[in-house]
Amino acid sequence: MRNLQIECSASFTGEEPYSMAITVLEAQSELGKTFNTSIPATEIYTNVLQYAANGVYRYSKSSKEFPNWIKPSKYFKRRVKKNLSGEEVLIKVKDKLKRMLSFQVKNLSDDNYPFSKNQFDIVFCRNILIYFSIEDKNKILKKLFSHLKIGGTLYLGHSENPQDLVNHVKRIGQNIFIKEKEIF
Ligand SMILES: C[S@@+](CC[C@H](N)C(=O)[O-])C[C@H]1O[C@@H](n2cnc3c(N)ncnc32)[C@H](O)[C@@H]1O
Repeated sequence: MRNLQIECSASFTGEEPYSMAITVLEAQSELGKTFNTSIPATEIYTNVLQYAANGVYRYSKSSKEFPNWIKPSKYFKRRVKKNLSGEEVLIKVKDKLKRMLSFQVKNLSDDNYPFSKNQFDIVFCRNILIYFSIEDKNKILKKLFSHLKIGGTLYLGHSENPQDLVNHVKRIGQNIFIKEKEIF
């Protein structure tokens, strides 16, 4: 069975890494293949990461939280909680998603990072680099890019401006980059 390793940095309350896990499971049934998938999610704030690890979210039918190709009952348990203002619908991620994820408190700026070179097939770092100075951003990007295997892809948020990276690596979509060779 092929291993699939996905790093999700600055994962906030977990919507992003759980979405990745759902996408992998959907792709598996589409392709008729099974991947041995591991998605380590990192985040600087312990309480935020704890929320992600719990995997319980408020659900509102009107907010179109899921794309059409996802059947929520496949991945979430529905729970109705009664409170003073009425009823609240909560959804809890099923264990098959939880098993694919792990959570670690980590600062992106930290030199002592828990992942090694060439470990990941995919790295996500979305909607956080805009808050760093150019110098720090370049440092983080080099580190994250080094985590990728050759042929792996890095996904950044749409508004990130990874100028230094653009000059060195191949871009395959808006802020999606492929590692063709070792450069950093
Ligand atoms: C705007 S949210 C983006 C969340 C998610 N990646 C997304 O696109 O939906 C930025 C996240 O980065 C986290 N964060 C802020 N500074 C960080 C740092 N130095 N290292 C790791 N995470 C950080 C914040 O706590 C927050 O959860």
